[in-house]
Amino acid sequence: MLTINLLLVAGALFWIYFLWSRRRLYLLMLRMPGPIGLPILGSSLENIITYKRKLSFRTKYLNKYGSTILTWMGPVPFIVTRDPKIVEDIFSSPDCHNKSQHIVNAITSCMGNGLLGKQDPDWIDRRRHFNPAFKHDLLLSFFHIFDTETKILMNVLDTYVNQGETDVVPEMLKWSFRIAAQTTMGSEVKHDEHFKNGSLVECFESLICHSTLNILMPLVQNKIISKLCSYDKLRADNFSRIQKMLDNVVNKKVNLSPESDSDPEINIVINRAMELYRKGDISYMDVKSECCIMIAAGYDTSALTVYHTLFLLANHPEHQDAVFEELCAAFPETGNFEITYPDMQKLDYLERVIKETLRLIPAIPITARETKSDVRLSNGVLIPKGVVIGIDMFHTHRNPEVWGPDADKFSPDNFLAENVELRHPYAYIPFAKGKRNCIGSKYAMMSSKFALCRILRNYRISTRFLYKDLVYVDNMTMKLAEYPRLKLQRRT
Ligand code: HEM
Repeated sequence: MLTINLLLVAGALFWIYFLWSRRRLYLLMLRMPGPIGLPILGSSLENIITYKRKLSFRTKYLNKYGSTILTWMGPVPFIVTRDPKIVEDIFSSPDCHNKSQHIVNAITSCMGNGLLGKQDPDWIDRRRHFNPAFKHDLLLSFFHIFDTETKILMNVLDTYVNQGETDVVPEMLKWSFRIAAQTTMGSEVKHDEHFKNGSLVECFESLICHSTLNILMPLVQNKIISKLCSYDKLRADNFSRIQKMLDNVVNKKVNLSPESDSDPEINIVINRAMELYRKGDISYMDVKSECCIMIAAGYDTSALTVYHTLFLLANHPEHQDAVFEELCAAFPETGNFEITYPDMQKLDYLERVIKETLRLIPAIPITARETKSDVRLSNGVLIPKGVVIGIDMFHTHRNPEVWGPDADKFSPDNFLAENVELRHPYAYIPFAKGKRNCIGSKYAMMSSKFALCRILRNYRISTRFLYKDLVYVDNMTMKLAEYPRLKLQRRT
């Protein structure tokens, strides 16, 4: 009896200590509205089970409780915001460079230890080191790759003309993957058999899915559970196929002197990583991880952006015709006409259309940062150290308080200079903002615009699928419950 009593007292003391150690979180709960979290399960399980990870789950909460809310991922508090002022507080705070450790674990367990998952203070040095890989001159030198790969894509799209509605997404992913692999790893990658047979896109897609699963269901990160569900084996298979391709290229680099890297390739990602390796700052495995993560971060997002743009224009033929007119003026001939950077700079309407696409369907719907120390928000609320804040790009871009009652409507005029000037600078954040923004944003805009020039000059795109019927699904990169098929007709 005495033992039981002692155990009960110890349990009660432990419980009081637990609640006391979390007192700042409960105080935060009083200052921030949001749904009640179930003990242990929090408020996210409902989303996974009943909503099947649909983004409308957060729409419901944000509309009900306000633009900045406190939700619970299991027992862990998770602030979500669509308020540009709070977004600015977070993106511009030096105490919010870090991702949550949970997300970092999810990324590194699937793709290795690279820039995307690095934390301060290592992240800042690594980022500085890789910035030259995205300098304007180097991006311009990628044009011949954009050109060749877009020609390959056009050859396939040609076979879809007048064939009714077709699933174009796999080809978009292949196109983007081939570009990302070459601009990250150099021309050597073209000789790799895994690259040539195009089988790696599926491996990368699967790794991105695994990372998402690890983020949404942290239990899957547990080795035993992962083994029981066979996730471990699937992840290991995909990982090893990608590693073979990376090994083939990185191994050759290790055996060559740095002088053999010809200009302008000298500053591409693999060569920047090799520089760190030769200095002894990173391991051979890290070189491969940096390349793997750069490809993963770059190809899916750009492919989706091109596809979403085509879909939205198919739903808004009047805007598609306006883009077509602009393209005819810049490129009078059809086919694989030459595209230069000055040509692309003239395409204001197309630029606005891409920006509007990234507003309505951002390739990354949400990102999360963890506070390194206490952070005071501009609304006066103090966020304790170690709390994770989700910057919800999707909902920031559709926040009716910023974009008006027609926030969900497709309107490229949102990006006319006079309209941009009136908006909060953090109301539009498809590439995040601040020091830890997307390193590849200019690259992504260039490669996407390049492909869209050729596609929209050569084909009229249509679909029976309505924009209002799209169902958005939470993922590391934006996913749709169903990918509408597109119909291509030749233009002259
Ligand atoms: C339309 C295409 C793209 C979109 C919408 C996009 C969006 C983003 C966003 C929102 C972030 C911040 C993520 C966070 O804070 O958690 C990010 C980070 C990043 N992006 Fe992109 N991205 C795109 C294309 C690319 C491309 C083409 C590359 C590389 C070739 C790339 C490489 C990266 C990397 C490495 C990071 C991590 C940067 C760091 O942590 O310092 N992205 N991207």
